[in-house]
Amino acid sequence: MFDHYAQAYDALYQDKDYEGECDFVEAAAQRYLDRRAATILDFGCGTGGHAIPLVRRGYHVTGVDQSGAMIERANGKRAQLNGHADHVRFAVGDARHTALGRTFDLVTCMFAVLSYQTTDADALALFKNARQHLEPGGLFVCDYWHGPGVLALRPLTRAKTAELGGESVTRTSTPTLDEAARVVTVDIHTRHARAGQPGTESREQHRVRYFFPSEISRLLTGSGLRPLHYCAFPDFNLPPTDHDWNAAVIARAI
Ligand SMILES: C[S@@+](CC[C@H](N)C(=O)[O-])C[C@H]1O[C@@H](n2cnc3c(N)ncnc32)[C@H](O)[C@@H]1O
Repeated sequence: MFDHYAQAYDALYQDKDYEGECDFVEAAAQRYLDRRAATILDFGCGTGGHAIPLVRRGYHVTGVDQSGAMIERANGKRAQLNGHADHVRFAVGDARHTALGRTFDLVTCMFAVLSYQTTDADALALFKNARQHLEPGGLFVCDYWHGPGVLALRPLTRAKTAELGGESVTRTSTPTLDEAARVVTVDIHTRHARAGQPGTESREQHRVRYFFPSEISRLLTGSGLRPLHYCAFPDFNLPPTDHDWNAAVIARAI
């Protein structure tokens, strides 16, 4: 998963408000962390959409992602950091099991990375591993697909076209909702075209789980993390409702 999609990822999400989401992470730290945040572990960092701006804001960031293709693209962006490239490190690894042998002030898990953990056992493993990388008082910040919003708004077939660096990308996402498993299976068909060259196509299937806050609280508590704050994402001050596809939770290591 994500290995074919990585090629299209930055084109498709060039309008995603990563800076605004970094503001969200900083707001969480300012409200709930008992110290000034300096170090961040970003689980499921993808192509570095949050890590690179967070380094520009003065943090030292380690990004871990299970997709080698996403990490390759993230590493390609270190050159943008003018003299601060050594403030970020990207590594291929599974957020459920990877052991870095050190702790961080914050562990982040952004853009539905949690929702790719489709069983309780997988989500629990990710939360426990986040806890392993925090000292008591450290924070876990995570957004996810919000069950009440997904069930009210319903997944729809969508198409998007984007251009970046002379390449045009068209993605069609066709979802199937399994309410018993609380999982949406999304068939993603991507077509790339560059002027004067033959186009290429790829297909991936993503299984994405929606969560209810009560499930997340149970799994966090079982991992040594105390949930402190649920909100619509990225609206730090608004409670999540069934109008919100995305919500976030902030938890503190006990
Ligand atoms: C929607 S992308 C988000 C990437 C990035 N956080 C962003 O905001 O652009 C989800 C990412 O989670 C990664 N991922 C999912 N499950 C993972 C796991 N168990 N361990 C590490 N990475 C994981 C995928 O490889 C993918 O890069």
